[in-house]
Amino acid sequence: MTASLLTQLSARVGQVFETCDLDPKFGKVVLSQRRELGQFQCNGALAAAKSAKKNPRDIAQTVLEALEKTGIFAELSLAGPGFINMKLTDEFLKSHLNTIAADDSFGIREEHNSEKVILDYGGPNVAKAMHVGHLRATIIGESLRRLHVFMGDDVISDVHFGDWGLPMGLLIKEIELQKPDLPYFDADNEGPFPAESPVTVDELQELYPAASSRSKENPEFLEAAREATFELQKGRAGYRALWKHMLDVSIAETKIDFDLLGAHFTEWKGEADTNDHIPSMLERFASNNLSEESDGAIVVRIAREDDKKEMPPLILQKSDGAVMYGTTDLATIEMRQLEHDPDSILYVVDARQGLHFEQVFRAARVGDSLDADATLEHVGFGTVNGKDGKPLKTRDGGVVRLRSMIEDAIGEARKVVEEAGLKDKFSSEELEDIATKVGIAAIKYADLSNQRMSNYVFDLERFTKFEGKTGPYQMYAAVRIKSMLRKATDQGIASGDIVVTHEAERNLMLALSQLSEAVFAAADKSAPNILCDHVYALTQEFNSFYHDCQVLGESDEAIRASRLKLCEITLRQIEAVLDMLGIAVPERM
Ligand code: ARG
Repeated sequence: MTASLLTQLSARVGQVFETCDLDPKFGKVVLSQRRELGQFQCNGALAAAKSAKKNPRDIAQTVLEALEKTGIFAELSLAGPGFINMKLTDEFLKSHLNTIAADDSFGIREEHNSEKVILDYGGPNVAKAMHVGHLRATIIGESLRRLHVFMGDDVISDVHFGDWGLPMGLLIKEIELQKPDLPYFDADNEGPFPAESPVTVDELQELYPAASSRSKENPEFLEAAREATFELQKGRAGYRALWKHMLDVSIAETKIDFDLLGAHFTEWKGEADTNDHIPSMLERFASNNLSEESDGAIVVRIAREDDKKEMPPLILQKSDGAVMYGTTDLATIEMRQLEHDPDSILYVVDARQGLHFEQVFRAARVGDSLDADATLEHVGFGTVNGKDGKPLKTRDGGVVRLRSMIEDAIGEARKVVEEAGLKDKFSSEELEDIATKVGIAAIKYADLSNQRMSNYVFDLERFTKFEGKTGPYQMYAAVRIKSMLRKATDQGIASGDIVVTHEAERNLMLALSQLSEAVFAAADKSAPNILCDHVYALTQEFNSFYHDCQVLGESDEAIRASRLKLCEITLRQIEAVLDMLGIAVPERM
């Protein structure tokens, strides 16, 4: 039995079409837009009639009569030119819900062929504090990781640190200028070098902009930085030692942000890890005539005849010998192939890097860098904007640090929960935990509920509201159920078999049955917003149920036990989906 109710029903209705000598594809069943007419709808008779040159209502009538015999429908009706409306028997709905509820993954794992998926997200850079641009990369990437883990995929998450290239040379030269007495700059010094980093992360964050503007004013400095980058890549001991310190303090700093956002990486690799692979890669491209020289640089031509836009070649090596962002990305693909043999690699990176990934992916195909069946996908996303509709900036036009965004969100959440009167109910420790969870839920849900490619406005006041399409609201729905279940335990009330007595129960059961649709569609499109929509629809349906149906107050024991059971399943599912969004639910609030 498949977890998806719609797939199951479509197959059944498809069979009926087939027995009428019509293509089973016309049996596609969808959720009804108008619940009062039925739970489900099949509109295939219209298309079937066209291809069979028959009257659609006649076809629909024949199909409907055959469907009556299946015994799984409580109501069937015809509408308009040939729409079939369906309502399942309670027995069928109940048995489906019981089946999926019996499984940890609501039947989803069983239905999915596990794949090996590499997720590349986060993408921080050495010496630069994570900023607004990394917010979405982290939130969306982490959600996709959790989604694929839930489905039973074998998931590798790699942070892919930006730790190679010219910025490293700039930093080395800037540190040399500011702290010339350090031992790292003497080409003859083979070490050992001090174990303690000569720079703190705060210093690094000032050193980088200083180096960057110096390189713009001073061509000699830029040249020296290029030279240093090259030496670093070749392995000069002092530079490597200094670089390692910069990397380590930067990683330690980003870990604080990732922990706050609940992001989990199985690999902490970076561009630099490709260094030893690059010479052999360049050699292989060259000897197979896959790369060529162009103005002293080595490039891979990737343009295709049917290209509608210009597709510049990917530069593997510049004329000065330095390798580029694209080179390390291409080498990373080759190394991932060798080490993991993945089915797919997903890059959760700003949509503005679209051309870069297109170039790298094409070059990977040119060079057979990856298994031909494996897929490469750039999972792009839009920008986070300020209330002026432009990409978010600080008041003086600078980049907004990720840490401050998280802290602001938690601060706003603290205000909201205090205003809601929680301050007197909880210890300050628990209150802080709640505020943190609410704040994180607020920014995550706000981000993920948008279509990934759209931009959105960062508005904490809206994000932290306890109503509508917000993280705190979904979270609160779960907390309320938790508290009800605790009460039930206290009162010695146990859950029991489902008995259906009210339309609100059916609607809730129907909403619960839609999880697999949501999960597979979200994975297919790398679209967590589909999960957000699902959990929102579910909490709405639960609220109607809770409004219309007594649970603990119900006097009929069997009905009470059944409703409690529905509450348990609902809580489990809300928590599962929120977990896929990276949102944790407090015990109480
Ligand atoms: N460090 C890059 C940046 O800040 C993002 C890295 C994305 N991943 C990749 N494999 N290129 O823009």
